[in-house]
Amino acid sequence: MCGIIGCVTKGNCYRYLISSLEKLEYRGYDSAGIAVLSEAGLAIRKKKGGVKNLFGEELSGRAGIGHTRWATHGAPSDANAHPHVCGKFALVHNGIVENYAKLREELSAAGETFLSETDSEVIVKLIARSYTGNFFAAVSSACSRLEGSYAIAVLCEDFPEEIVCAKYKSPLIAGASSSALFVCSDVPALSGEAEYIAAAEDGEFIHIRGGEIDFCDGAGRRIGKKFSKVTETSLGGRRRCATYMEEEIFEIPRALEDTLAWLNAADFAPCARAMRQAKKVFAVACGTAYHAALLFKDIVEKEVRIPVLCHTSSEFRYRDPLVEEGDLVVAVSQSGETADTLEAARLARERGGFVLAVTNVSCSSLSSLADFTVVMRAGPEIAVAATKSYNCQLLCLYYIAAQLCFYKKTQMPAYMPELASLPEAARASFKTFPAMDMLAEKLRGAQSMYFLGRDRDVRTAAEGALKVKEIAYVFAEGYAAGELKHGTLALVERGFPVIAVSTRADLAKKTENALEEVKSRGAYTVLLSQYGFMEESCADFKCKLPSVSEPLMPVISVIPLQYFACRMCLLRGYDPDKPRNLAKSVTVE
Ligand code: G6P
Repeated sequence: MCGIIGCVTKGNCYRYLISSLEKLEYRGYDSAGIAVLSEAGLAIRKKKGGVKNLFGEELSGRAGIGHTRWATHGAPSDANAHPHVCGKFALVHNGIVENYAKLREELSAAGETFLSETDSEVIVKLIARSYTGNFFAAVSSACSRLEGSYAIAVLCEDFPEEIVCAKYKSPLIAGASSSALFVCSDVPALSGEAEYIAAAEDGEFIHIRGGEIDFCDGAGRRIGKKFSKVTETSLGGRRRCATYMEEEIFEIPRALEDTLAWLNAADFAPCARAMRQAKKVFAVACGTAYHAALLFKDIVEKEVRIPVLCHTSSEFRYRDPLVEEGDLVVAVSQSGETADTLEAARLARERGGFVLAVTNVSCSSLSSLADFTVVMRAGPEIAVAATKSYNCQLLCLYYIAAQLCFYKKTQMPAYMPELASLPEAARASFKTFPAMDMLAEKLRGAQSMYFLGRDRDVRTAAEGALKVKEIAYVFAEGYAAGELKHGTLALVERGFPVIAVSTRADLAKKTENALEEVKSRGAYTVLLSQYGFMEESCADFKCKLPSVSEPLMPVISVIPLQYFACRMCLLRGYDPDKPRNLAKSVTVE
Protein backbone atom coordinates (compact mmCIF):
# COMPACT_ATOMS: atom_id res chain seq x y z
CA MET A 1 0.00 0.00 0.00
CA CYS A 2 1.97 2.76 -1.41
CA GLY A 3 0.96 6.06 -2.93
CA ILE A 4 1.48 6.90 -6.59
CA ILE A 5 1.19 10.18 -8.47
CA GLY A 6 1.73 11.11 -12.08
CA CYS A 7 1.20 14.43 -13.82
CA VAL A 8 1.69 16.29 -17.06
CA THR A 9 1.68 20.01 -16.42
CA LYS A 10 1.80 23.24 -18.39
CA GLY A 11 4.84 24.40 -16.39
CA ASN A 12 7.29 22.33 -14.41
CA CYS A 13 5.81 19.22 -12.77
CA TYR A 14 8.27 19.00 -9.85
CA ARG A 15 6.24 21.08 -7.37
CA TYR A 16 3.08 19.06 -8.08
CA LEU A 17 4.86 15.76 -7.54
CA ILE A 18 6.37 16.76 -4.22
CA SER A 19 3.23 18.36 -2.82
CA SER A 20 1.03 15.39 -3.82
CA LEU A 21 3.52 12.90 -2.41
CA GLU A 22 3.49 14.73 0.91
CA LYS A 23 -0.28 14.34 1.00
CA LEU A 24 0.03 10.66 0.07
CA GLU A 25 2.55 9.85 2.78
CA TYR A 26 -0.14 8.37 4.99
CA ARG A 27 -0.16 5.40 2.61
CA GLY A 28 3.46 4.60 3.36
CA TYR A 29 6.55 6.52 4.28
CA ASP A 30 9.58 4.27 4.33
CA SER A 31 11.01 5.53 1.03
CA ALA A 32 10.00 7.90 -1.73
CA GLY A 33 11.02 8.83 -5.23
CA ILE A 34 10.23 10.78 -8.36
CA ALA A 35 11.05 10.59 -12.06
CA VAL A 36 10.81 13.70 -14.21
CA LEU A 37 10.89 13.54 -17.99
CA SER A 38 12.21 16.31 -20.22
CA GLU A 39 13.70 16.46 -23.72
CA ALA A 40 16.97 15.52 -22.03
CA GLY A 41 15.48 12.22 -20.84
CA LEU A 42 14.58 10.80 -17.45
CA ALA A 43 15.86 12.30 -14.20
CA ILE A 44 15.36 10.11 -11.12
CA ARG A 45 15.61 10.96 -7.44
CA LYS A 46 14.73 8.30 -4.89
CA LYS A 47 15.63 7.87 -1.26
CA LYS A 48 14.98 5.81 1.82
CA GLY A 49 12.83 7.68 4.36
CA GLY A 50 10.09 10.27 3.93
CA VAL A 51 9.26 12.61 1.06
CA LYS A 52 11.27 15.40 2.68
CA ASN A 53 14.41 13.51 1.66
CA LEU A 54 13.54 14.36 -1.95
CA PHE A 55 13.68 18.11 -1.34
CA GLY A 56 16.51 19.84 -3.16
CA GLU A 57 17.22 21.30 -6.54
CA GLU A 58 14.16 21.21 -8.80
CA LEU A 59 14.16 18.53 -11.46
CA SER A 60 12.75 20.14 -14.53
CA GLY A 61 10.28 18.67 -17.00
CA ARG A 62 6.57 18.68 -17.71
CA ALA A 63 5.80 15.01 -17.14
CA GLY A 64 6.63 13.18 -13.94
CA ILE A 65 5.72 10.31 -11.66
CA GLY A 66 6.23 9.84 -7.94
CA HIS A 67 5.87 7.23 -5.24
CA THR A 68 5.81 6.90 -1.51
CA ARG A 69 6.40 3.37 -0.31
CA TRP A 70 5.22 0.97 2.36
CA ALA A 71 7.56 -1.95 1.87
CA THR A 72 6.14 -5.37 1.03
CA HIS A 73 8.90 -6.96 -1.07
CA GLY A 74 12.40 -5.82 -0.11
CA ALA A 75 13.42 -3.71 2.87
CA PRO A 76 13.17 0.10 2.80
CA SER A 77 16.28 1.27 0.93
CA ASP A 78 17.31 3.66 -1.85
CA ALA A 79 17.49 0.77 -4.32
CA ASN A 80 14.07 -0.60 -3.46
CA ALA A 81 12.46 2.85 -3.64
CA HIS A 82 10.40 3.59 -6.75
CA PRO A 83 10.52 4.67 -9.58
CA HIS A 84 12.13 1.61 -11.11
CA VAL A 85 13.82 2.12 -14.42
CA CYS A 86 14.53 -0.11 -17.40
CA GLY A 87 15.84 1.33 -20.66
CA LYS A 88 13.61 4.21 -21.69
CA PHE A 89 10.97 3.48 -19.06
CA ALA A 90 10.35 4.55 -15.46
CA LEU A 91 7.55 3.06 -13.38
CA VAL A 92 5.82 3.53 -10.03
CA HIS A 93 3.61 0.77 -8.63
CA ASN A 94 1.16 0.28 -5.79
CA GLY A 95 0.04 -3.28 -5.16
CA ILE A 96 1.60 -6.71 -5.13
CA VAL A 97 2.66 -8.77 -8.14
CA GLU A 98 1.85 -12.23 -6.84
CA ASN A 99 3.59 -14.11 -9.64
CA TYR A 100 6.69 -11.91 -9.47
CA ALA A 101 9.07 -14.75 -8.47
CA LYS A 102 8.18 -16.70 -11.59
CA LEU A 103 8.44 -13.61 -13.78
CA ARG A 104 11.74 -12.62 -12.22
CA GLU A 105 13.14 -16.05 -12.89
CA GLU A 106 11.98 -15.92 -16.49
CA LEU A 107 13.42 -12.41 -17.00
CA SER A 108 16.71 -13.34 -15.33
CA ALA A 109 17.01 -16.36 -17.60
CA ALA A 110 16.51 -13.99 -20.54
CA GLY A 111 19.50 -11.93 -19.36
CA GLU A 112 17.88 -9.16 -17.29
CA THR A 113 19.64 -8.03 -14.13
CA PHE A 114 17.65 -6.62 -11.26
CA LEU A 115 18.68 -3.59 -9.23
CA SER A 116 16.11 -4.04 -6.46
CA GLU A 117 14.43 -6.78 -4.46
CA THR A 118 10.96 -5.50 -5.30
CA ASP A 119 8.16 -7.25 -7.12
CA SER A 120 7.55 -3.99 -9.01
CA GLU A 121 10.79 -4.05 -10.99
CA VAL A 122 9.55 -7.02 -13.03
CA ILE A 123 6.78 -4.82 -14.46
CA VAL A 124 9.12 -2.23 -15.91
CA LYS A 125 11.31 -5.00 -17.33
CA LEU A 126 8.28 -6.60 -18.99
CA ILE A 127 7.27 -3.23 -20.45
CA ALA A 128 10.73 -2.55 -21.85
CA ARG A 129 10.89 -6.01 -23.40
CA SER A 130 7.45 -5.70 -25.04
CA TYR A 131 8.20 -2.27 -26.50
CA THR A 132 8.35 -1.98 -30.27
CA GLY A 133 7.52 1.72 -30.56
CA ASN A 134 3.97 1.66 -29.18
CA PHE A 135 4.12 2.88 -25.55
CA PHE A 136 0.53 2.03 -24.64
CA ALA A 137 0.70 -1.44 -26.17
CA ALA A 138 3.89 -2.24 -24.24
CA VAL A 139 2.25 -1.36 -20.91
CA SER A 140 -0.92 -3.24 -21.77
CA SER A 141 1.01 -6.31 -22.84
CA ALA A 142 3.06 -6.30 -19.62
CA CYS A 143 -0.10 -6.01 -17.52
CA SER A 144 -1.57 -9.07 -19.19
CA ARG A 145 1.25 -11.09 -17.59
CA LEU A 146 0.62 -9.85 -14.04
CA GLU A 147 -1.25 -11.62 -11.26
CA GLY A 148 -2.10 -9.80 -8.06
CA SER A 149 -2.88 -6.12 -7.76
CA TYR A 150 -1.49 -3.02 -9.35
CA ALA A 151 -1.92 0.66 -9.98
CA ILE A 152 1.00 1.78 -12.13
CA ALA A 153 2.11 4.98 -13.82
CA VAL A 154 4.78 4.76 -16.51
CA LEU A 155 6.95 7.26 -18.37
CA CYS A 156 8.74 6.58 -21.67
CA GLU A 157 11.60 8.72 -22.99
CA ASP A 158 10.21 8.52 -26.54
CA PHE A 159 6.99 10.28 -25.45
CA PRO A 160 8.01 13.30 -23.34
CA GLU A 161 4.49 14.46 -22.45
CA GLU A 162 2.71 11.16 -21.94
CA ILE A 163 1.95 8.90 -19.03
CA VAL A 164 0.37 5.46 -19.34
CA CYS A 165 -1.32 4.00 -16.27
CA ALA A 166 -3.14 0.78 -15.46
CA LYS A 167 -5.31 -0.34 -12.59
CA TYR A 168 -6.24 -3.70 -11.15
CA LYS A 169 -7.37 -4.04 -7.53
CA SER A 170 -5.38 -1.00 -6.39
CA PRO A 171 -6.94 2.46 -6.50
CA LEU A 172 -6.28 4.91 -9.32
CA ILE A 173 -7.89 8.29 -9.79
CA ALA A 174 -7.60 10.68 -12.73
CA GLY A 175 -7.68 14.41 -12.09
CA ALA A 176 -7.74 17.50 -14.27
CA SER A 177 -7.32 21.24 -13.87
CA SER A 178 -6.62 24.02 -16.35
CA SER A 179 -2.89 23.72 -15.66
CA ALA A 180 -2.29 19.99 -15.18
CA LEU A 181 -3.53 16.45 -15.75
CA PHE A 182 -3.05 13.90 -12.97
CA VAL A 183 -3.25 10.30 -11.93
CA CYS A 184 -3.08 9.44 -8.30
CA SER A 185 -3.85 6.79 -5.67
CA ASP A 186 -6.27 8.93 -3.76
CA VAL A 187 -8.36 12.08 -4.09
CA PRO A 188 -6.97 14.02 -1.10
CA ALA A 189 -3.53 14.09 -2.69
CA LEU A 190 -5.01 16.18 -5.50
CA SER A 191 -6.89 18.59 -3.28
CA GLY A 192 -6.15 22.15 -4.14
CA GLU A 193 -4.80 20.99 -7.52
CA ALA A 194 -7.38 19.02 -9.51
CA GLU A 195 -10.79 20.51 -10.19
CA TYR A 196 -12.33 17.38 -11.70
CA ILE A 197 -11.76 13.72 -10.90
CA ALA A 198 -12.81 10.29 -12.13
CA ALA A 199 -11.94 6.87 -10.74
CA ALA A 200 -10.59 4.01 -12.86
CA GLU A 201 -12.19 0.57 -12.62
CA ASP A 202 -10.27 -2.70 -12.55
CA GLY A 203 -8.82 -3.52 -15.95
CA GLU A 204 -8.92 0.08 -17.15
CA PHE A 205 -6.00 2.17 -18.36
CA ILE A 206 -5.49 5.92 -18.21
CA HIS A 207 -3.52 7.59 -20.97
CA ILE A 208 -2.35 11.20 -20.66
CA ARG A 209 -1.20 12.57 -24.01
CA GLY A 210 -1.61 15.62 -26.23
CA GLY A 211 -3.01 17.66 -23.32
CA GLU A 212 -5.85 15.17 -22.76
CA ILE A 213 -6.58 12.44 -20.29
CA ASP A 214 -8.39 9.35 -21.58
CA PHE A 215 -9.67 6.16 -20.01
CA CYS A 216 -9.06 3.14 -22.25
CA ASP A 217 -9.48 -0.60 -22.34
CA GLY A 218 -6.51 -2.92 -22.80
CA ALA A 219 -6.63 -2.48 -26.58
CA GLY A 220 -6.39 1.31 -26.24
CA ARG A 221 -10.05 1.93 -27.14
CA ARG A 222 -11.44 4.98 -25.35
CA ILE A 223 -13.97 4.47 -22.55
CA GLY A 224 -16.34 7.37 -21.89
CA LYS A 225 -15.89 8.59 -18.29
CA LYS A 226 -17.76 11.22 -16.41
CA PHE A 227 -15.50 13.49 -14.38
CA SER A 228 -17.01 15.01 -11.27
CA LYS A 229 -16.12 18.23 -9.53
CA VAL A 230 -13.83 17.86 -6.52
CA THR A 231 -15.74 18.66 -3.36
CA GLU A 232 -13.46 17.36 -0.62
CA THR A 233 -12.08 20.11 1.57
CA SER A 234 -8.53 21.08 0.82
CA LEU A 235 -5.93 19.51 3.05
CA GLY A 236 -3.30 21.16 5.12
CA GLY A 237 -4.72 24.66 5.03
CA ARG A 238 -6.45 24.73 8.40
CA ARG A 239 -3.96 23.19 10.77
CA ARG A 240 -4.20 24.58 14.26
CA CYS A 241 -2.52 21.61 15.93
CA ALA A 242 0.98 20.30 15.55
CA THR A 243 -0.25 16.94 14.26
CA TYR A 244 -3.04 15.78 11.96
CA MET A 245 -4.32 13.40 14.61
CA GLU A 246 -4.95 16.19 17.13
CA GLU A 247 -6.49 18.30 14.39
CA GLU A 248 -8.75 15.46 13.34
CA ILE A 249 -9.94 14.90 16.90
CA PHE A 250 -10.88 18.58 17.12
CA GLU A 251 -12.75 18.20 13.82
CA ILE A 252 -15.10 15.54 15.23
CA PRO A 253 -18.03 17.91 15.97
CA ARG A 254 -17.89 19.40 12.48
CA ALA A 255 -17.50 15.98 10.90
CA LEU A 256 -20.58 14.74 12.78
CA GLU A 257 -22.57 17.80 11.69
CA ASP A 258 -21.67 17.29 8.03
CA THR A 259 -22.36 13.56 8.19
CA LEU A 260 -25.71 14.16 9.83
CA ALA A 261 -26.63 16.67 7.14
CA TRP A 262 -25.76 14.09 4.47
CA LEU A 263 -27.78 11.39 6.21
CA ASN A 264 -30.81 13.61 6.69
CA ALA A 265 -30.82 14.46 2.99
CA ALA A 266 -30.08 10.92 1.80
CA ASP A 267 -32.63 8.78 0.04
CA PHE A 268 -32.46 5.20 1.29
CA ALA A 269 -35.18 4.06 -1.13
CA PRO A 270 -32.70 1.97 -3.20
CA CYS A 271 -32.13 -0.10 -0.03
CA ALA A 272 -35.85 -0.49 0.73
CA ARG A 273 -36.32 -3.95 -0.78
CA ALA A 274 -33.11 -5.35 0.67
CA MET A 275 -33.87 -3.93 4.11
CA ARG A 276 -37.45 -5.16 4.09
CA GLN A 277 -36.40 -8.67 3.08
CA ALA A 278 -33.21 -9.15 5.09
CA LYS A 279 -33.59 -11.94 7.61
CA LYS A 280 -30.03 -11.56 8.72
CA VAL A 281 -27.37 -8.94 8.34
CA PHE A 282 -23.59 -9.16 7.97
CA ALA A 283 -21.06 -6.52 8.89
CA VAL A 284 -17.48 -6.67 7.57
CA ALA A 285 -14.59 -4.33 8.30
CA CYS A 286 -10.99 -4.08 9.54
CA GLY A 287 -9.25 -2.29 12.39
CA THR A 288 -11.14 0.65 13.81
CA ALA A 289 -13.94 0.16 11.31
CA TYR A 290 -14.36 -3.36 12.71
CA HIS A 291 -15.07 -1.90 16.13
CA ALA A 292 -17.73 0.27 14.50
CA ALA A 293 -19.14 -2.84 12.83
CA LEU A 294 -19.32 -4.62 16.20
CA LEU A 295 -21.27 -1.74 17.63
CA PHE A 296 -23.59 -1.91 14.64
CA LYS A 297 -24.29 -5.53 15.57
CA ASP A 298 -25.20 -4.42 19.10
CA ILE A 299 -27.52 -1.70 17.85
CA VAL A 300 -29.31 -3.76 15.19
CA GLU A 301 -29.79 -6.79 17.39
CA LYS A 302 -31.26 -4.59 20.11
CA GLU A 303 -33.40 -2.32 17.96
CA VAL A 304 -34.35 -4.49 14.98
CA ARG A 305 -34.16 -7.90 16.64
CA ILE A 306 -32.54 -9.67 13.73
CA PRO A 307 -29.14 -11.36 13.92
CA VAL A 308 -26.03 -9.57 12.72
CA LEU A 309 -22.94 -11.63 11.92
CA CYS A 310 -19.89 -9.45 12.26
CA HIS A 311 -16.59 -10.52 10.70
CA THR A 312 -13.15 -9.04 10.24
CA SER A 313 -12.94 -8.80 6.45
CA SER A 314 -9.70 -10.78 6.32
CA GLU A 315 -11.44 -13.81 7.87
CA PHE A 316 -14.78 -13.48 6.13
CA ARG A 317 -13.53 -14.57 2.73
CA TYR A 318 -11.91 -17.76 4.02
CA ARG A 319 -14.82 -18.93 6.12
CA ASP A 320 -17.36 -19.85 3.52
CA PRO A 321 -19.67 -17.27 5.13
CA LEU A 322 -23.36 -17.95 5.46
CA VAL A 323 -24.39 -15.15 3.10
CA GLU A 324 -27.46 -16.03 1.07
CA GLU A 325 -29.58 -14.30 -1.54
CA GLY A 326 -31.31 -11.34 0.08
CA ASP A 327 -28.96 -10.87 3.04
CA LEU A 328 -27.88 -7.33 3.82
CA VAL A 329 -24.09 -6.95 4.02
CA VAL A 330 -22.75 -3.74 5.51
CA ALA A 331 -19.11 -3.08 4.61
CA VAL A 332 -17.46 -0.36 6.69
CA SER A 333 -14.23 1.26 5.51
CA GLN A 334 -13.01 4.81 6.00
CA SER A 335 -10.85 4.69 2.87
CA GLY A 336 -13.05 2.37 0.85
CA GLU A 337 -9.82 0.82 -0.44
CA THR A 338 -8.94 -1.80 2.18
CA ALA A 339 -8.25 -4.89 0.09
CA ASP A 340 -9.75 -7.38 2.55
CA THR A 341 -12.97 -5.41 2.87
CA LEU A 342 -13.24 -5.07 -0.90
CA GLU A 343 -12.83 -8.82 -1.32
CA ALA A 344 -15.39 -9.48 1.42
CA ALA A 345 -17.86 -7.17 -0.33
CA ARG A 346 -17.21 -8.84 -3.69
CA LEU A 347 -17.80 -12.28 -2.22
CA ALA A 348 -20.99 -11.11 -0.53
CA ARG A 349 -22.30 -9.80 -3.84
CA GLU A 350 -21.40 -13.00 -5.65
CA ARG A 351 -23.54 -14.86 -3.14
CA GLY A 352 -26.51 -12.63 -3.72
CA GLY A 353 -26.08 -10.27 -0.78
CA PHE A 354 -27.01 -6.59 -1.02
CA VAL A 355 -23.84 -4.64 -0.18
CA LEU A 356 -24.29 -1.39 1.66
CA ALA A 357 -20.97 0.48 1.97
CA VAL A 358 -20.17 3.00 4.67
CA THR A 359 -17.13 4.97 3.56
CA ASN A 360 -15.53 8.38 3.76
CA VAL A 361 -14.51 8.50 0.10
CA SER A 362 -17.35 8.81 -2.37
CA CYS A 363 -15.38 7.63 -5.40
CA SER A 364 -13.64 4.74 -3.65
CA SER A 365 -13.41 1.19 -4.99
CA LEU A 366 -15.79 0.00 -2.27
CA SER A 367 -18.37 2.53 -3.26
CA SER A 368 -18.16 1.53 -6.91
CA LEU A 369 -18.77 -2.13 -6.17
CA ALA A 370 -21.49 -1.62 -3.52
CA ASP A 371 -25.22 -1.61 -4.22
CA PHE A 372 -25.63 1.48 -2.08
CA THR A 373 -23.14 3.80 -0.37
CA VAL A 374 -23.53 5.88 2.74
CA VAL A 375 -20.89 8.58 2.56
CA MET A 376 -19.74 9.87 5.87
CA ARG A 377 -18.60 13.44 5.61
CA ALA A 378 -15.67 13.24 7.98
CA GLY A 379 -13.46 15.11 5.52
CA PRO A 380 -10.01 13.82 4.60
CA GLU A 381 -8.39 11.88 7.42
CA ILE A 382 -4.62 11.91 7.16
CA ALA A 383 -3.34 10.54 10.48
CA VAL A 384 -2.93 6.80 10.12
CA ALA A 385 -4.92 6.01 13.27
CA ALA A 386 -8.59 6.64 12.59
CA THR A 387 -10.39 9.09 14.88
CA LYS A 388 -13.10 11.32 13.39
CA SER A 389 -13.99 8.70 10.80
CA TYR A 390 -14.84 6.26 13.64
CA ASN A 391 -17.26 8.70 15.25
CA CYS A 392 -18.86 9.32 11.85
CA GLN A 393 -19.02 5.59 11.06
CA LEU A 394 -20.93 5.08 14.30
CA LEU A 395 -23.33 7.89 13.45
CA CYS A 396 -23.98 6.36 10.00
CA LEU A 397 -24.49 2.92 11.50
CA TYR A 398 -27.00 4.21 14.08
CA TYR A 399 -28.81 5.83 11.17
CA ILE A 400 -28.75 2.66 9.06
CA ALA A 401 -30.13 0.65 11.99
CA ALA A 402 -32.99 3.15 12.19
CA GLN A 403 -33.63 2.75 8.44
CA LEU A 404 -33.84 -0.99 8.98
CA CYS A 405 -36.47 -0.39 11.67
CA PHE A 406 -38.33 1.88 9.30
CA TYR A 407 -38.43 -0.57 6.39
CA LYS A 408 -39.19 -3.51 8.64
CA LYS A 409 -41.95 -1.48 10.22
CA THR A 410 -40.67 -2.03 13.75
CA GLN A 411 -40.62 0.71 16.33
CA MET A 412 -38.17 3.48 15.49
CA PRO A 413 -35.25 3.66 17.93
CA ALA A 414 -35.75 6.14 20.76
CA TYR A 415 -32.27 7.55 20.06
CA MET A 416 -33.25 8.88 16.61
CA PRO A 417 -34.20 12.46 17.64
CA GLU A 418 -31.08 12.60 19.81
CA LEU A 419 -28.66 12.13 16.91
CA ALA A 420 -28.79 15.87 16.34
CA SER A 421 -27.28 16.50 19.77
CA LEU A 422 -24.11 14.51 19.02
CA PRO A 423 -22.01 17.35 17.53
CA GLU A 424 -22.61 19.50 20.61
CA ALA A 425 -21.85 16.59 22.95
CA ALA A 426 -18.65 15.94 21.00
CA ARG A 427 -17.70 19.59 21.55
CA ALA A 428 -18.47 19.24 25.25
CA SER A 429 -16.24 16.15 25.42
CA PHE A 430 -13.22 18.40 24.81
CA LYS A 431 -13.65 19.50 28.44
CA THR A 432 -12.27 16.09 29.43
CA PHE A 433 -8.96 16.81 27.67
CA PRO A 434 -7.17 18.50 30.61
CA ALA A 435 -7.97 15.40 32.68
CA MET A 436 -6.70 13.19 29.86
CA ASP A 437 -3.50 15.27 29.72
CA MET A 438 -2.99 14.51 33.41
CA LEU A 439 -3.77 10.83 32.92
CA ALA A 440 -1.35 10.54 30.00
CA GLU A 441 1.34 12.22 32.08
CA LYS A 442 0.67 9.76 34.90
CA LEU A 443 0.69 6.67 32.64
CA ARG A 444 3.33 7.68 30.10
CA GLY A 445 5.76 5.04 31.34
CA ALA A 446 3.23 2.18 31.41
CA GLN A 447 4.22 -1.05 29.66
CA SER A 448 0.68 -2.30 29.22
CA MET A 449 -2.90 -1.53 30.25
CA TYR A 450 -6.45 -2.81 30.15
CA PHE A 451 -9.59 -1.10 29.03
CA LEU A 452 -12.85 -2.48 30.41
CA GLY A 453 -16.52 -2.03 29.66
CA ARG A 454 -19.83 -3.80 29.47
CA ASP A 455 -22.26 -4.06 26.58
CA ARG A 456 -21.54 -1.24 24.12
CA ASP A 457 -18.73 0.06 26.30
CA VAL A 458 -16.77 -3.09 25.39
CA ARG A 459 -16.49 -1.68 21.85
CA THR A 460 -15.23 1.64 23.19
CA ALA A 461 -12.75 -0.21 25.40
CA ALA A 462 -11.48 -2.17 22.39
CA GLU A 463 -11.11 0.98 20.30
CA GLY A 464 -9.33 2.81 23.15
CA ALA A 465 -6.90 -0.11 23.45
CA LEU A 466 -6.30 -0.19 19.69
CA LYS A 467 -5.47 3.52 19.63
CA VAL A 468 -2.95 3.14 22.47
CA LYS A 469 -1.30 0.18 20.71
CA GLU A 470 -1.21 1.83 17.30
CA ILE A 471 0.40 5.10 18.21
CA ALA A 472 1.78 5.01 21.77
CA TYR A 473 3.25 1.50 21.33
CA VAL A 474 1.87 0.39 24.67
CA PHE A 475 0.40 -3.08 24.82
CA ALA A 476 -3.28 -2.68 25.60
CA GLU A 477 -6.36 -4.86 25.48
CA GLY A 478 -10.05 -4.03 25.66
CA TYR A 479 -12.16 -6.52 27.57
CA ALA A 480 -15.68 -7.15 28.73
CA ALA A 481 -15.45 -6.36 32.45
CA GLY A 482 -17.12 -9.68 33.25
CA GLU A 483 -14.31 -11.58 31.54
CA LEU A 484 -11.66 -10.29 33.93
CA LYS A 485 -11.85 -13.29 36.21
CA HIS A 486 -11.42 -15.71 33.34
CA GLY A 487 -7.72 -15.16 32.82
CA THR A 488 -7.04 -11.48 32.38
CA LEU A 489 -6.84 -10.81 36.10
CA ALA A 490 -3.69 -12.91 36.38
CA LEU A 491 -1.64 -10.14 34.80
CA VAL A 492 -2.80 -7.39 37.15
CA GLU A 493 -0.14 -6.30 39.64
CA ARG A 494 0.81 -3.16 41.54
CA GLY A 495 0.41 -0.04 39.43
CA PHE A 496 -1.12 -1.85 36.42
CA PRO A 497 -3.46 0.67 34.73
CA VAL A 498 -7.07 -0.39 34.20
CA ILE A 499 -9.35 2.09 32.47
CA ALA A 500 -13.10 1.42 32.69
CA VAL A 501 -15.78 3.02 30.56
CA SER A 502 -19.19 2.91 32.21
CA THR A 503 -22.03 4.56 30.34
CA ARG A 504 -24.98 2.27 31.16
CA ALA A 505 -26.53 3.23 34.47
CA ASP A 506 -27.98 -0.22 35.12
CA LEU A 507 -24.56 -1.87 34.66
CA ALA A 508 -22.51 0.75 36.49
CA LYS A 509 -22.37 -1.19 39.74
CA LYS A 510 -21.06 -4.27 37.96
CA THR A 511 -18.30 -2.31 36.22
CA GLU A 512 -17.46 -0.72 39.56
CA ASN A 513 -17.12 -4.21 41.06
CA ALA A 514 -14.61 -5.11 38.38
CA LEU A 515 -12.59 -2.01 39.26
CA GLU A 516 -12.71 -2.98 42.95
CA GLU A 517 -11.35 -6.40 42.03
CA VAL A 518 -8.37 -5.05 40.15
CA LYS A 519 -7.78 -2.28 42.68
CA SER A 520 -7.54 -4.81 45.49
CA ARG A 521 -4.72 -6.40 43.47
CA GLY A 522 -2.87 -3.12 43.27
CA ALA A 523 -4.12 -1.81 39.90
CA TYR A 524 -4.27 1.91 39.13
CA THR A 525 -7.94 2.36 38.30
CA VAL A 526 -9.54 4.93 36.02
CA LEU A 527 -13.27 5.44 35.49
CA LEU A 528 -14.98 7.34 32.69
CA SER A 529 -18.71 7.91 33.01
CA GLN A 530 -21.39 10.51 32.44
CA TYR A 531 -23.13 9.76 35.71
CA GLY A 532 -22.84 11.46 39.10
CA PHE A 533 -22.42 8.16 40.95
CA MET A 534 -18.83 8.07 39.88
CA GLU A 535 -18.07 10.67 42.56
CA GLU A 536 -18.45 7.90 45.13
CA SER A 537 -16.40 5.50 43.05
CA CYS A 538 -13.31 3.78 44.35
CA ALA A 539 -11.41 4.65 41.16
CA ASP A 540 -8.05 6.36 41.56
CA PHE A 541 -8.79 8.69 38.65
CA LYS A 542 -12.23 9.81 37.51
CA CYS A 543 -13.29 11.61 34.38
CA LYS A 544 -16.82 12.87 33.84
CA LEU A 545 -18.14 12.49 30.33
CA PRO A 546 -20.72 14.80 28.77
CA SER A 547 -24.15 13.29 28.60
CA VAL A 548 -26.18 12.25 25.57
CA SER A 549 -28.92 9.67 25.27
CA GLU A 550 -27.43 6.49 26.76
CA PRO A 551 -27.47 4.32 23.61
CA LEU A 552 -25.50 7.00 21.73
CA MET A 553 -22.74 7.33 24.33
CA PRO A 554 -20.20 5.27 22.31
CA VAL A 555 -19.96 8.13 19.78
CA ILE A 556 -18.86 10.44 22.60
CA SER A 557 -17.14 8.28 25.22
CA VAL A 558 -14.43 7.24 22.78
CA ILE A 559 -13.27 10.85 22.23
CA PRO A 560 -11.34 11.22 25.52
CA LEU A 561 -9.68 7.87 24.78
CA GLN A 562 -8.66 8.97 21.28
CA TYR A 563 -7.18 12.10 22.77
CA PHE A 564 -5.52 10.17 25.63
CA ALA A 565 -3.78 7.84 23.14
CA CYS A 566 -2.57 10.83 21.15
CA ARG A 567 -1.17 12.53 24.29
CA MET A 568 0.51 9.29 25.39
CA CYS A 569 2.11 9.04 21.98
CA LEU A 570 3.40 12.61 22.01
CA LEU A 571 4.69 12.35 25.60
CA ARG A 572 6.56 9.20 24.68
CA GLY A 573 8.19 11.06 21.82
CA TYR A 574 6.45 9.47 18.83
CA ASP A 575 4.66 10.87 15.80
CA PRO A 576 0.93 10.05 16.03
CA ASP A 577 0.41 10.69 12.32
CA LYS A 578 2.86 8.06 11.14
CA PRO A 579 3.02 5.07 13.48
CA ARG A 580 5.78 2.60 12.73
CA ASN A 581 4.95 -0.33 10.43
CA LEU A 582 1.38 0.87 9.76
CA ALA A 583 -0.28 2.49 6.79
CA LYS A 584 -3.63 4.18 6.59
CA SER A 585 -4.92 2.36 3.61
CA VAL A 586 -4.09 -1.34 3.44
CA THR A 587 -4.62 -2.07 -0.22
CA VAL A 588 -2.93 -5.47 -0.13
CA GLU A 589 -4.17 -8.64 1.55
C1 G6P B 1 -5.46 0.30 8.67
C2 G6P B 1 -5.38 1.57 9.50
C3 G6P B 1 -6.49 1.58 10.56
C4 G6P B 1 -7.84 1.38 9.89
C5 G6P B 1 -7.87 0.09 9.06
C6 G6P B 1 -9.13 -0.04 8.23
O1 G6P B 1 -5.11 -0.78 9.43
O2 G6P B 1 -4.12 1.67 10.11
O3 G6P B 1 -6.49 2.83 11.24
O4 G6P B 1 -8.83 1.30 10.88
O5 G6P B 1 -6.78 0.12 8.14
O6 G6P B 1 -9.15 0.98 7.26
P1 G6P B 1 -10.44 1.38 6.46
O7 G6P B 1 -9.99 2.46 5.51
O8 G6P B 1 -10.93 0.16 5.76
O9 G6P B 1 -11.44 1.88 7.46
